[in-house]
Amino acid sequence: MPERAEVLHLLQEEEEESLRRQAEEATLAQKGSHVFVRGLLEFSNRCKRNCLYCGLRAQNSRISRYLLAEDVIVASAESAVAAGADTIVLQSGEGCFEAAWLAEIVREITTRLKVPVTLSVGECKSADYELWREAGAARYLLRHETSDAALYARLHPGHTLENRLQCLRTLAALGYEVGSGFMVGLPGQSLESIADDILLCRKLNVDMAGIGPFIPQSGTPLAANGGGSAALALRAIAALRIIHPRLNQPATTALASLDPARGQTEGLRWGANVLMASFTPPAAAKDYRIYDNKCRVSMRDAALAIEAAGRTHGLKASL
Ligand code: 5AD
Ligand code: SF4
Repeated sequence: MPERAEVLHLLQEEEEESLRRQAEEATLAQKGSHVFVRGLLEFSNRCKRNCLYCGLRAQNSRISRYLLAEDVIVASAESAVAAGADTIVLQSGEGCFEAAWLAEIVREITTRLKVPVTLSVGECKSADYELWREAGAARYLLRHETSDAALYARLHPGHTLENRLQCLRTLAALGYEVGSGFMVGLPGQSLESIADDILLCRKLNVDMAGIGPFIPQSGTPLAANGGGSAALALRAIAALRIIHPRLNQPATTALASLDPARGQTEGLRWGANVLMASFTPPAAAKDYRIYDNKCRVSMRDAALAIEAAGRTHGLKASL
């Protein structure tokens, strides 16, 4: 079993091209050349939490808040599926809508469009997770953000890592395919704790994990901090692929935001096998400002990134 020292070795000492190649080979062996493309719908930027790093935090009064109407969400999902998205990911801040309302939307998308629905709407009551599961939601994304409990508590006032992990366990027990993930380059985050993040993903036996660099966002308490590097995020993606090869890993939007031309292609070359293309209506997407200069990845961007990485996709040739 690779322990912390081995993961640390992958993160900092392994020769760059050798690490990348090992990760790419593990990806191709476990997942094949195909890259899954999800359709992302950021249906609300309202949030009751105050994560220090995030532009959607409740105390940020500089952004205008929205909640898309049910018919807009379903129509956007329809166009994502028509463009070749294999899954609809419904994402929002936390605590900003009625659970029964979301259950209806999940039911509508799964029955009418016949694609799996992934939810990413934060820490919620078990009863709500259960309701959405019964409505047809198959997957849930809830990044653990950092495995360092003290850092977690500093970044998430009033919340604990333990509760986050309990939510992940509840979701798995309800039969969801579960996704976690974390940021690299958070203020006060050590390389050891990034190694622990990677080991935690394996310990939780997650089906998915999103790893992205921290990007400072104006109007947040961390605005003046340095951000994480794409290079370290790529090494973390590769290390996780090597020690937990069966999981799905997106080349995250944060990578694209640091390097719009190559970020996601590099993610795919370093162990990722999933992309998320945004189908959030553009007027709303500009207010989904988690961090500064966040990219809106289109289906065409996704197709080009996949082709540039020498991989295959099931998107329409007419893109
Ligand atoms: N930089 C990078 N990623 C961020 N997220 C939130 N704020 C930032 C930021 N400033 C990530 C978190 C969250 C996901 C939706 O976006 O990991 O889980
Ligand atoms: Fe809300 Fe999620 Fe942003 Fe935290 S990271 S403030 S929970 S949207």
